[in-house]
Amino acid sequence: MIRLNENYQNLKDSYLFYNIAQKTKEYLEENPGKKLYRMGIGDVSLPLASAVCTALHTAVDDQSKKESFHGYMPECGAPSLRQTIADYYKKRNVKLSPEEVFVSSGASDELGDILDLFSKESTALIMEPAYPAYVDANIMAGRKIIHLPSGEANGFLPGPSAELDADLIYICSPNNPTGAVFTKEQLKEWVDFANERGAIIIFDAAYEAFIEENLPHSIFEIEGARSCAIEICSLSKTAGFTGTRVGYTVIPKDLERGGQNVNAMWVRNRTTKTNGVSYILQRGGAAVFTPEGQEQIHRNIAIYKNNAKVLMKVLDELGITYFGGKNAPYIWMKCPNGMGSWEFFDLLLREIQVVGTPGEGFGACGEGYFRFSTFGDPEDTKEAARRIKELLSK
Ligand code: MLT
Repeated sequence: MIRLNENYQNLKDSYLFYNIAQKTKEYLEENPGKKLYRMGIGDVSLPLASAVCTALHTAVDDQSKKESFHGYMPECGAPSLRQTIADYYKKRNVKLSPEEVFVSSGASDELGDILDLFSKESTALIMEPAYPAYVDANIMAGRKIIHLPSGEANGFLPGPSAELDADLIYICSPNNPTGAVFTKEQLKEWVDFANERGAIIIFDAAYEAFIEENLPHSIFEIEGARSCAIEICSLSKTAGFTGTRVGYTVIPKDLERGGQNVNAMWVRNRTTKTNGVSYILQRGGAAVFTPEGQEQIHRNIAIYKNNAKVLMKVLDELGITYFGGKNAPYIWMKCPNGMGSWEFFDLLLREIQVVGTPGEGFGACGEGYFRFSTFGDPEDTKEAARRIKELLSK
């Protein structure tokens, strides 16, 4: 009989966002017709930018004519889009060659797939609270995980220390779920630590476009990162591609371990395991980086940032401690009156029909906290904020 991957037995029964979806579905079955104010999963609510839609339509038309039709795309991405993304990094003074950029179908797929590159015996260091897919993907692969807790004392931005025995280091900045952002100095400590140990950093930059202060958007702004880091990014949150799926991964050509070149390994992996992102989607993705596309996506980001302001104002008025919201699309608040995070989830759902994400779902040290996504509809966010204020002022 075939043996299945027994590591799956070490996973929680179901994934965090699936759990939340089930709980809200049950609530709606018990309370038909109730309107929910959804600020749980970080899923965008605004439509794609018109520059993107025009490019997608044009690309569909291209596919309808023999002379402009495209079959399989280059597995690592269209050379023009790889160049466009490399150029995007220039504004941060990061020099990349197009061959160091890989077009992907989004960050979550890539965060799972990239683990193919590392030995099962390597140890993964995950700073918590953390996006739960980091943990689950490593459990599925049977990898040992070091959970590095963070908290209010270090602003949810833990630093390295000599006793951390890590080979693979996850850094998400701006952070999901806490919204905290590492400074250049803090990232430099991690880069030095990784280079000294021969470890590799997986830098999740999915929320870089939300940074408004003078903070690093890319790990490659840090000296020494080319020899120890991979960056995974996505257009999902930046440009509303959660349902469209385009992202990119940066692997410097200098990144080597044990005589193996990581960039070359990823080329080998992609050319074997994918047929590339479709022509149509790559054309849509390329439109994000045009001046018109940039202007339009930043208009949408400003709307989400206004949602954050609406929520932060209410939390300020209530005197509730929170993190994030300024340089990130998430607000990480302390549950009131010492409540547990699932208890608070139930209270908000049942009393005011607001859906958020319990902090415990991001790791044990997230217990007692609660995350709001600011990607919701602006009118719904205003109403949710009003309801939160009314409920918690009682
Ligand atoms: C989240 O809500 O944490 C994210 O949206 C989930 C994701 O990007 O997959």
